[in-house]
Amino acid sequence: MALYSEKVMDHFRNPRNVGTIENADGIGEVGNAQCGDIMKIYLKIENDTIMDVKFETFGCGSAIASSSMATEMIKGKPVAEAMALTNKAVAEALDGLPAQKLHCSVLAEEAIKKALQDYYNRNGIPYDKADFPKEETCHSCCGVQA
Ligand code: FES
Repeated sequence: MALYSEKVMDHFRNPRNVGTIENADGIGEVGNAQCGDIMKIYLKIENDTIMDVKFETFGCGSAIASSSMATEMIKGKPVAEAMALTNKAVAEALDGLPAQKLHCSVLAEEAIKKALQDYYNRNGIPYDKADFPKEETCHSCCGVQA
């Protein structure tokens, strides 16, 4: 059986929404010191809706595919729906990721959450800190080889 699904390969080879957004309303960056992957998400938000989303990912194929899929899943959606996106949903939408690569989809979820937190901060919107990743994220699962 192939290690990666067709969908993972497709999003890895033709990633959607790559790039940056000038004057973004929210920017979120997460990194993993151990595997060295860095993911940055840019959001354009109007009327509580994700009007546009772009990403830059320096990392493994699964991280790129996860960012691509995650951005597709929140584009055009209300902020609350983007907040509710889980790495599990991203991995499922990709028809699965190998177990040792699941942490790559966690990066996508966290980068989006951080970008939303940035949006809330900039606009003085109150939120519960517990809903967001901690400042220093450490994935013990990232001791694996990329
Ligand atoms: Fe892909 Fe860690 S995020 S190897």
